[in-house]
Amino acid sequence: MRLAPSILSADFARLADQMARVEEAGAHQFHLDVMDGHYVDNLTFGPMVVEAVRRSTELSLDVHLMIENADKWIEAFSAAGADMIAVHPETLYHLHRTVFDIKNRGKQAGIALNPSTPLITLEEILPDVDYIIVMSVNPGFGGQAFIPGSFDRVRKLRSFIKDRGFSTQIEIDGGIDAHNIRRAVEAGVDVVVAGSAIFGSPDPALKLREMLAIGKG
Ligand code: DX5
Ligand code: ZN
Repeated sequence: MRLAPSILSADFARLADQMARVEEAGAHQFHLDVMDGHYVDNLTFGPMVVEAVRRSTELSLDVHLMIENADKWIEAFSAAGADMIAVHPETLYHLHRTVFDIKNRGKQAGIALNPSTPLITLEEILPDVDYIIVMSVNPGFGGQAFIPGSFDRVRKLRSFIKDRGFSTQIEIDGGIDAHNIRRAVEAGVDVVVAGSAIFGSPDPALKLREMLAIGKG
């Protein structure tokens, strides 16, 4: 299991410091939520902040695009230093082309599935993607309640991937904390994203260590 703190819930005035603390505590990668105020009702940041984050850490940067016309932004986020780029299929007309644009730039390509998006959406594209983000909240905000049923979706997706003989990684994103992280791992998750549970805690490094310990079992 790898733990990916989502900087969405960090203090942006002290971002480099907050990232350094959780990195030192054992974070495996950082999750960066890009929102455009159209696809989701929230606005966050663009390539400029990704580039600044890139200068603050050597860990992989997993850029989660919750934006319309995501294909127009792949080049900019790649140049800014993303290692992994995930898109939502609902935002794109030509998902296959976008996935290959990401991969041809040497980045890992991910697909984020909303709670209501059928897993079968992945049938044709699965061989071409490196990871799937199972959204366990509706995208847009940190600190939302975990949607029950998401672990079932992870289990189904895990066997869907296994049956086809692929090595696609599964990431879970939304509402994960120390209380449910173990169940996420048991369901078959490879990467756990956690924002408010970590950065909303008085001691993010301590909380990250606690979640890692519980997650590893
Ligand atoms: C939600 C974002 C998440 C968010 C998770 O749209 O995709 O990555 O940062 O935050 P928590 O862990 O607080 O649910
Ligand atoms: Zn996210």
